Parts: sequence; C-alpha cells; structure tokens
Amino acid sequence: MASSPSLLLYDNPPEQEDSEIQVLGGLLAVEKSISPKFFYDEEGSKLFTEITRLPEYYLTRTELALLRENTDEIGELVGKSSLLIEYGSGNSEKIRILLERIRPKIYVPIDISKNYLTKAADALNDEYPWLEVRAICLDYTREFELPFVVEDRPIAFFPGSSIGNFSRDGALQFLKRVKHLVGDGGGLLVGVDLKKDINVLNAAYNDANGVTEKFNLNILCHLNREFSGDFNLSGFSHLAEYNAQEGCIQMFLKSKSDQLVNLAGHEIYFDKGETIHTENSHKYSLAEFHEMADAAGFAQLRCWRDARNWFAVFYLGG
Ligand SMILES: C[S@@+](CC[C@H](N)C(=O)[O-])C[C@H]1O[C@@H](n2cnc3c(N)ncnc32)[C@H](O)[C@@H]1O
Repeated sequence: MASSPSLLLYDNPPEQEDSEIQVLGGLLAVEKSISPKFFYDEEGSKLFTEITRLPEYYLTRTELALLRENTDEIGELVGKSSLLIEYGSGNSEKIRILLERIRPKIYVPIDISKNYLTKAADALNDEYPWLEVRAICLDYTREFELPFVVEDRPIAFFPGSSIGNFSRDGALQFLKRVKHLVGDGGGLLVGVDLKKDINVLNAAYNDANGVTEKFNLNILCHLNREFSGDFNLSGFSHLAEYNAQEGCIQMFLKSKSDQLVNLAGHEIYFDKGETIHTENSHKYSLAEFHEMADAAGFAQLRCWRDARNWFAVFYLGG
C-alpha cells in the first residue's frame, strides 16, 4: 500500500492461525511460555517507549550516547550505502542519529507492531523529505525475503539489545540470516547489553514505577483480544530476575491462585505460584559476542562501549 511517493508499507504479518498454534503450544506445555513478540500490540509498544525513559533502564540511554558519540566513525565504516534496514524499529528514534551521516536512499523499518510501525514511518517520511521509507510489518524471527530488488549492499541495524531475546543458538542463527541478507559487501550495526552487576540488571527489569510490570501483564491483554481469551490481569504478578547460569534476565507472570483461563476455545489450568515465561534477555561478554559474530561469518568487527562497560554497539562486516 503506497500512501505517498516516498512511503511504502508492506504488510506481511504472521498468519493468525500460526500465531494461535504457537500461543497454545506455549501455554499448554508443562512449562508455560509466551513468545516475547506478543508484547508488542500498540499499547505494548507505547509501554516499551515509556520503559526506555525510566531511570533504571540504562540500556536505551547508554546506546543512544554511544551512537551520538561515534556517529562519524560509524558513518565511515558503514560508508555510503543506499539501503538501510532496521530490525524491530519501534519508534525509529535511534536511526535518526545516523540518517544524516549515512544518507541512505532507502530506509526499511521492519516491525511486528503494525500500527506503531505505520505511525513511525509516517513521521519519518514527513521529517526527511529526501528519504524513501519502505516499512515492512513482519516477524523477523522467521526467514523472509525483502519484497523488492536490492541493488546496493545493505546495512542492517538492530539496536535495543533485542538480539538478547533470542536463545544463544537462536542469536547465532539470526546473525547468519542477516549475513546472508546483507551479503559480502554489507554489514550489521547491532546493540548488545553486556554482563554486569546483578543488582543493576535486576533493577532495570523491576522499575520502581511498575511500568515493566504493566508491560509484562499487557501481553495477556493482547492474547485476550487476538484469541478470544479471558485472562484476568489482576490474577498474575510480574517476576523478573537474573539467571546467572544462563547469563540472562528471565521474565515471568506468576499465577496468584489456582485458576482456569479460556483461550482460543481451550481451557488452560494454572496452579497457584505457577509461572508463564514471557522473556529472556541474554547478556553477553565482549568475547562471547565476538565469537558468535565470527561463527556467523562476519570477518570484520568493530566495537564501541561506554566507560562502565555496560553496553556495546558492534559493527559486523566482511
Ligand atoms: C525492545 S523493542 C526495541 C525498539 C527499538 N529498536 C529500540 O531500540 O528502542 C523491540 C522492537 O522489536 C519489535 N519486535 C519484537 N519482536 C519482533 C519480531 N519477532 N518481529 C518483528 N519485530 C519485532 C517490537 O515491536 C519492538 O518495536
């Protein structure tokens, strides 16, 4: 659907039936889970933006500062690519730092949250008249082809440490898919949250204002709407803690009582204290991420990190 000559929207969201099978599979399993991609209906996207402004959530502030402080060096490495693709673009805030320096002809924001993506793409289209915006609504955890012919080596951008939501093997497979998409001349700029003091990590996912709690619970609201469910949000509580063995923050919803929930024509039983696993957020050491990038086939690696060593932005090329 074209809404202006320089703004195109491609709509390729996951099929409702596939999503239903995935959600039921997770909730009817012995250890219940919901994929984190279901956080992002419009309300979830708004709540995430709120999270990024919380004092405890150092990730966004630190990554923004790294991008601002190193724009010139990043621009030099990335070169003058005419095609910039962002995975999980959200409000497209971070790409604004790089757009003037890289000056791509085409910017491709990819996100699963369609209304939010459309609004962000519209705003960019108004702000940068010289830029062609081709927004794509799809699920980047699956293999996909770009719905147009690529004439230049693309540069991919994956900020926010969203790579941490994949399992370690899932992250490697994702990097391999990106490497395939950008080819030998292209590259990937990716934000990675680093291992650090457990108290800092636990505070970032348990903010004092309870915004992360609202964000976590909103996933149930999203499922109620999409799959005719009757989850009672006040029947669950938010739980987020660092699992040192796995090297990741794990987020759960914990049932406050024995209860029965209906979803997509199925009955789901919860014991008091039973949990639904909603998110993993893996943290990496520089060496671990370096090794993974290498295994994915990226020969060139450059890294920028803050003075506290809390967050890193990597450029992977070659
Ligand atoms: C943690 S937020 C990061 C947003 C922004 N890139 C940033 O750095 O602040 C994750 C973003 O990825 C999108 N997203 C999550 N899972 C996705 C998936 N499987 N496919 C496509 N987009 C996804 C969400 O809608 C959201 O905008």
